[in-house]
Amino acid sequence: MARLEQHCAVDLWGGSDAIPGAELKARLADKQALMCLLTDRVDGAVLDAGPGLRIVANIAVGFDNIDLAAARARGVMVTNTPDVLTEATADLTWGLILSAARRIAEGERLLRRGAWAGWALDFMLGSDLRGKHLGIVGLGRIGRAVAARAGAFGMRVAYATLDAGAAAPGAADAAWARLSLDELLSSSDVITLHVPLTPATRHLVDRRALLRMKRRAYLVNTSRGPVVDEGALAWALRQGLIAGAALDVYEQEPRVHPDLVGLENVVLAPHLGSATVETRTAMADLAARNVLAVLAGDAPLTPVTA
Ligand code: GLV
Repeated sequence: MARLEQHCAVDLWGGSDAIPGAELKARLADKQALMCLLTDRVDGAVLDAGPGLRIVANIAVGFDNIDLAAARARGVMVTNTPDVLTEATADLTWGLILSAARRIAEGERLLRRGAWAGWALDFMLGSDLRGKHLGIVGLGRIGRAVAARAGAFGMRVAYATLDAGAAAPGAADAAWARLSLDELLSSSDVITLHVPLTPATRHLVDRRALLRMKRRAYLVNTSRGPVVDEGALAWALRQGLIAGAALDVYEQEPRVHPDLVGLENVVLAPHLGSATVETRTAMADLAARNVLAVLAGDAPLTPVTA
């Protein structure tokens, strides 16, 4: 805010919920820049409400909340916040992997309801990670950062990518095996999703994909909720077709599929991937710098090029 206020008049939505669409449109009438969140849907109608708009700066790396084609057609620049949240999101992913495989959240629930009868040799056994196969779907910035941490847990890394060109491994990645998605699904002990939400990735993990997974495997999603068919996942977890799952994102946030909420073998986090003081500050600062660059007639730092 301090950075912005040095150069612009700022109209801040102070509500704790997302700004209602009508309110957003009304406030955009006289604005040149919009800084928004992944909870704000920015489509052609919203853009038309701000005829003077020059930039939409999303405070998120994902940008599926913004209609890029509509922005391009109106000459509005779109920016996101890559890089600054990579490490925080990779850390959270590992927190979820550990929480699912070692039943940390399930154990905490049991303890808090007073049901812990004490240490026992066969009590709440999870799975070792050492020597197991980690399957990474999407080898972008976050997928690579997750892979880079795997050695610390003794896991072997394989990856699959939907984007044939983009994921050619560099020398540093040579130890990571490239597989088809089907091969990865059937050979991994932990599968973690790091793809953007696009028409090609919506429900990428559906019944068919879940049926390919090992019965002792875990699914982790810190990307976007609709990449997983939540109904199919609840079914697979209930049937014991996979061992467990850990989710940070949901199909219709903040709603969580009611069938998932009642299951013990799924860890449910409230979209915390980038939620550290340092990372959220860096994201907001990057978005502000994108706005100021474009308003000054300069190129933005992190334009969305897709
Ligand atoms: C968070 O989900 C982001 O896209 O930054």
